[in-house]
Amino acid sequence: MTLRGGRLYYRPFARLPALWFCRLCLGPCGPHFNARGIALFTHIRVALKDYYHTGTPVPSTPTFARLMTRECREALPPRRILEVGPGAGPMTEQIVACLGDGDVFDVVEINADFARNLDRRFLGPARKRVPGATIRMFIDPIQTAALEGSYGFIVSSLPLNNFEPQEVREILARMKGLLAPGGHLSFFEYAGIRRIARPFKKKQDRRRLGDIGRVLTEFDRENGVKKRVCLLNFPPALKRSLQLKARS
Ligand SMILES: C[S@@+](CC[C@H](N)C(=O)[O-])C[C@H]1O[C@@H](n2cnc3c(N)ncnc32)[C@H](O)[C@@H]1O
Repeated sequence: MTLRGGRLYYRPFARLPALWFCRLCLGPCGPHFNARGIALFTHIRVALKDYYHTGTPVPSTPTFARLMTRECREALPPRRILEVGPGAGPMTEQIVACLGDGDVFDVVEINADFARNLDRRFLGPARKRVPGATIRMFIDPIQTAALEGSYGFIVSSLPLNNFEPQEVREILARMKGLLAPGGHLSFFEYAGIRRIARPFKKKQDRRRLGDIGRVLTEFDRENGVKKRVCLLNFPPALKRSLQLKARS
């Protein structure tokens, strides 16, 4: 309520934006809200320095992170899980929450800032909480990370549309090669992003995006990839998932 020119004004929502911003920055309303704020700022800070590898100004939403990690969260330990490109950790948060004894959780992140942050916020606490799980961080590109064995679940957030078509083909082949028989691979791109971005790109980039589209279509066809759009993400995202045949 404010007094102006001898009149009383009642504006119940006037301070909401400022209050919301303070809560986002300082987190006085609880650790949950604070953690989301930290993730957002970490993501924006790294994206400003390295947009090529980050590929988006904001992290995925919890709703989309739950969709991306559904297969591995629904399975029981012992599982071998690989996360590629965790960034500020929206998917990591979902995965560590369901880890149990005997699980192996490997994380591959090219950016050392993101990796340090993830170790402090998610992986370190999870190692203490579930000492029977093996949790490892590889600060490397997925193309060359020294991973051993195969995985039942791979969740990747790589910004494939920023890469060269040949690189996309190699990354997809590497991730598929790391799957165990019966294993699940999930990766995503923003829905319709190549079509939306194309008119604003230079000729060379338009050709590159067209070639990436063809690489993905070929991969989808060969592997029976399933697609699901999530509107509760910014921008709306398209999850692609495939399951390798189990050994008979
Ligand atoms: C689009 S961000 C996704 C971040 C987060 N998973 C999310 O959904 O909000 C892409 C992430 O992939 C990482 N990345 C990019 N290229 C990579 C590569 N070749 N190998 C491993 N990580 C990579 C980036 O550093 C960044 O953390």
